Amino acid sequence: MTAALPAPAWLVGCGNMAGAMVEGWRSAGVDFSGVTVVRPSGAPVEGIRTVTDYPDEQPRFIMLGFKPQKLDEVAPGLGPHVGPNTVLVSMLAGVTAAAMRQRFAAARAIIRIMPNLPVAQRAGVIPLYSEDDDVEARESVEKLMAILGLVPWCSDERQVGAIGAISASGPAYFARFAEAIGRAGSRHGLDADTAASIAAQTLIGTGAFAAANGESMADLARRVASPKGTTEQGLAVLDGAEGLQPLVDRMLDAALRRVDELAAEAAARN
Ligand SMILES: NC(=O)c1ccc[n+]([C@@H]2O[C@H](COP(=O)([O-])OP(=O)(O)OC[C@H]3O[C@@H](n4cnc5c(N)ncnc54)[C@H](OP(=O)(O)O)[C@@H]3O)[C@@H](O)[C@H]2O)c1
Repeated sequence: MTAALPAPAWLVGCGNMAGAMVEGWRSAGVDFSGVTVVRPSGAPVEGIRTVTDYPDEQPRFIMLGFKPQKLDEVAPGLGPHVGPNTVLVSMLAGVTAAAMRQRFAAARAIIRIMPNLPVAQRAGVIPLYSEDDDVEARESVEKLMAILGLVPWCSDERQVGAIGAISASGPAYFARFAEAIGRAGSRHGLDADTAASIAAQTLIGTGAFAAANGESMADLARRVASPKGTTEQGLAVLDGAEGLQPLVDRMLDAALRRVDELAAEAAARN
C-alpha cells in the first residue's frame, strides 16, 4: 500500500531539511496528492502544490520546516489554521514542546522531531518527542518518519538535543573530519582536489561497509588496524590523552550549550 501524508497536510517551509525529507518520501513512493507546501518564495517543489499563503482550511498534519528564529513571525498567521484535528510536527532546533504548545494551544498533538540530512537517502536518524498522549498521532508520525530512517522516541526532551547533537549535526562533523584528512593528505604529495575526493569517498565507503556488515565502529577500526601496522600508529595519536575524545567532548558540549541557549531564547520570547 502506498504511504501518504494525512490529507490535507501542509509543509510550512521547505528548505534544506524539509526538502531532504520530501526527497526521501518521494523515493519511497509516498503519495503527495493531499500535501501543500507553504513558503514565502513560492519556489516550486517537484510534484507538490506550492503556495505563498495559507489555504483556507485546518489541515490534519502540519510540519514546520523554517528556522527557529522565524517562529514568532509565523505563529500569529498560522495559529488559526491549527485546530483540534491538527497534528503539528516541529523540526525547530531548540524550541521546546511547551514553547510550541503556548503558540499553538489548539493542536491535537505536538510532536518534535530532529531529522538529519541523510533522510534524503532514507538513511536518516529522526528522534521523536511529544508531551501529548495521543497514541494514534504518535504512531502515524512515527510511521511516516520510519520511512526515512531510524526513529528513536525520547522519554526526556533533553534527549532530543543530545541525539540531534550527534545525528543532526553529525554529517557536518564527519564531513569536517574527512576534509581534514584530505588536507593532511595533500601535505604528502597529493593535489588538494584528489586528496579531498579520496577522503570523501573513504567516508562514503566506510558508511556503506559498516551498514552492510552491521559491526560496531570499534570492531571496524580493529579490522583495519593490524598490529604494528601503519593504521595503528595513526590511531595511537587519535587515542592519546590530547587526541580525538577530549576534542569531540568539547565539540558536543559546545553544540549542546547552543541547544540550551536556543531554548532560553524561545522561552524568553513568550
Ligand atoms: N539543516 C539541518 O541539518 C537541520 C537538522 C535538524 C533540524 N533542522 C531544523 O530545520 C529547520 C529548517 O532548517 P533548514 O536548514 O532547512 O533551513 P532553510 O534551508 O533556510 O529553509 C528554511 C525554509 O523556511 C522557509 N521560510 C522562511 N520564512 C518563512 C515563513 N515566514 N513562513 C513559512 N516558511 C518560511 C523558507 O522558505 P523560502 O525557501 O520560500 O524562503 C525555507 O523553505 C530549522 O528549524 C532547523 O532547526 C535543520
